[in-house]
This record gives sequence, C-alpha cells and structure tokens, in this order.
Amino acid sequence: MSFGSGKVWMNGRLVDWKDATIHVAAHVVHYGTGVFEGARCYQTPKGSACFRLDAHVTRLLDSAKIYRMDSPLDQSGWESAILETIRANALKACYIRPLMYRGYSQLGVNPMPCPVDAAVLVWEWGAYLGADAVEKGVDVCISSWNRTAPNTFPAAAKATANYANSTLIKMEAVLDGYAEGIALDTQGYVSEGSGQNLFIVRRNVIFTPPVHSSILGGITRDCIITIARGLGYEVREEVLPRELLYLADEAFFCGTAVEVTPIRSIDKIPVGEGARGPVTSAIQARFFAILRGELPDTHGWLTPVESPVAAR
Ligand SMILES: Cc1ncc(COP(=O)(O)O)c(C=O)c1O
Repeated sequence: MSFGSGKVWMNGRLVDWKDATIHVAAHVVHYGTGVFEGARCYQTPKGSACFRLDAHVTRLLDSAKIYRMDSPLDQSGWESAILETIRANALKACYIRPLMYRGYSQLGVNPMPCPVDAAVLVWEWGAYLGADAVEKGVDVCISSWNRTAPNTFPAAAKATANYANSTLIKMEAVLDGYAEGIALDTQGYVSEGSGQNLFIVRRNVIFTPPVHSSILGGITRDCIITIARGLGYEVREEVLPRELLYLADEAFFCGTAVEVTPIRSIDKIPVGEGARGPVTSAIQARFFAILRGELPDTHGWLTPVESPVAAR
C-alpha cells in the first residue's frame, strides 16, 4: 500500500484512505493542536514486526499528557489499533503514523472544548533521505533557525506545532542544496536535525546532545546509545559547541525515518574522510541486523504484527 491508498484507522473504525478526512474548522488545522508518532514495521524471518512499538505509544501518551489531551485509548488500545491497521493493509513493512488531534467544535484558542480525535495511518516508506544516503551519507548545513527555547514549545512532546520549526529548518536546507539542516538550541549549542537526532564520534568517543539541548528524546537515539555501549564504545550525552561538529571524525543522524544515516559534510567541511566511518558502520550493522530480525531480539524491541498485544 503506497501513500494514498488502503485503510486508515479513525476513531475506532477502518475507513478508506479517501474517506479519512476532517473538517477545515477542526481546531488542529488552525492552531496545530495535535500530537503524533512515527514508528516503523519491518519484515523479519519470523514475519513482520513493529520496532519499539511500546516506546512509541508511551511517548504518544506522554505528549498528550503535556497538552492536556485525554487519549481515547490506553497503551494496549493504541498498540492493538496500530497492529490492526497494519494487518488490514496487509503490509509487510511500513511507516506508522498514529496521531491525536483536537477536532471540530469551536475555534477559540482554548482547545479543551474540542474533542480529541485519533487516527492511525500506515504506508510504505523507504529511505527518508534517498536510497544512497544510508551508505554514502548526506551533506548538511547548520540552520540559521534555532530549535525552540525551553519553556516555549515543550521539546519532549512530539507535537504537530513543533514541526513548524522543523519545516523552516528543512526548507532552508533544501533550497541551499543540502539534504538536511542541523539546528542549534537558543544558547547556540548543537541540538538536532529537523526530524532526527545527531551523534558525532571524536577520538573513538561517541557524543550526543542531552535532552536539555531542546531535542526530542528519540527512541532510535536510545537504541543507538544501547547498541554503542554494547559494542564497547564510550557514549557521552553532553552539551556540544557548534565547532565540535567541524572537528568530528564521524557524524550521523538517527531517527525512525532516517534510521542511521551518516553525515559526510557539514557546511561544506568534510566530516573525517568525507565518507561513512568505521564506528558508524559498526552501529548501523548492529542496528539493521536487530530490526530485520537477523540477530536475536535481546532487548525486546520487536512486536510481531500477528501477535495479540494483550498477551504481552
Ligand atoms: C525533531 C525530531 N527529533 C528526533 C527524532 C527522532 O526520534 P525517533 O528516533 O523516536 O524517531 C524525530 C523523529 O521522530 C524528530 O521529529
């Protein structure tokens, strides 16, 4: 099922893609009052499996809590709805987009009179930054846009409104000929990409900005820290000055969409040798082997699509 076809789960019912519509007066359309997730389902030798489904649903519920939205579903309800949607679309591997949004009622800024509507979309989505990116790496720039300041838009919430900032970062990068932009926080320290977290490697130590550098606490980021430490690397969550990016031996993005994508240049300065480095390769190899089911799932990161969630 490609983008634009198949079934969409909406408020408890599976409807055809073309019928999964909302009213133009829905609160979310005007004020960005939505929270969402992006997860992936992969094909493994034992059948299709969602990667870190429980963590994604937990973050969705956390985002809703921050925005005072009463989720119509609990943890297992969301997990079941997601698995049901994948099964209904007979997809072996797909991107998964659950979301909650303030729907139709009135258009005052106060969202609380509006219903919290829920939906799950799934579609086939390959390499986010192009087929070659995972191997060859991407050229990126430092964005002139900062990530949001503390106590403005909560970075820990994956909220629709945060992506207004992401679109500014992305458009600028693309128009200037780069694949992505890296945003600094309002203090000028390294934060993250428009939709991905960032790691650098310097003298065999791996660094990534901490959660208080205005990042979304990525679930892939958490996997990378676990994998890298398991491979014997030292990983430090540290505030990073911009110039450290230019001095990195290796750098890579990680996230559900980009998976693990090497960065080969930043502001036209080559990162290391200007190609994927050995630490990035080792982490990528372990990451992809786990999510494709080629290594045992020792961390419990995979949820089989065919399994009843309630049994977990
Ligand atoms: C702004 C931002 N940062 C980081 C990430 C990476 O998060 P995750 O690994 O949970 O997909 C994403 C993607 O969801 C994102 O949109």
